[in-house]
Amino acid sequence: MNTETIQLLQFPKIPDRRGNLSVIEENIHIPISIERVYWIYDVPGGEYRWGHAFKNTCEVIVAMSGSFDIITHDGKQEQRYHMNRSYYGLFIPKMIWRSIENFSTNSLALIAADTPYSGEEYIRDFDEFITGIKTIETIVGDKG
Ligand code: TYD
Repeated sequence: MNTETIQLLQFPKIPDRRGNLSVIEENIHIPISIERVYWIYDVPGGEYRWGHAFKNTCEVIVAMSGSFDIITHDGKQEQRYHMNRSYYGLFIPKMIWRSIENFSTNSLALIAADTPYSGEEYIRDFDEFITGIKTIETIVGDKG
């Protein structure tokens, strides 16, 4: 499965009058193995989480409840995804800058990641991120 590009994934939805059900199986509905799951909740409406990129971590972000916007930047282009259905997930590869904003009151963001938590994984400075992208492009360019 492709882990190179940002992808809006649609998960199975099993409609039921008792309540709908959706499911994620690792490496089937998402292109990664799940090493860690965390969630962001009790977010005041309109709140914003400042961006960062991960050096080696890929993630899938799902709006389990409510809505929010994910803003991604791949070093060239910025894109905004409005997440408001629990059967959609945004796959974000490593080395993509992302921030989350416009949280609705009582929204719940679930994040599945393919690495354990490590503070070392974070790039928290946008300029440092751009420098990292350029370095990767140079290395890949030299090889090609
Ligand atoms: P962080 O990812 O830094 O959030 P943000 O970039 O939006 O500020 O996480 C906030 C805190 O939570 C940070 O002190 C580390 C802790 N944390 C963990 O212990 N484990 C995790 O898997 C994550 C994502 C965060």
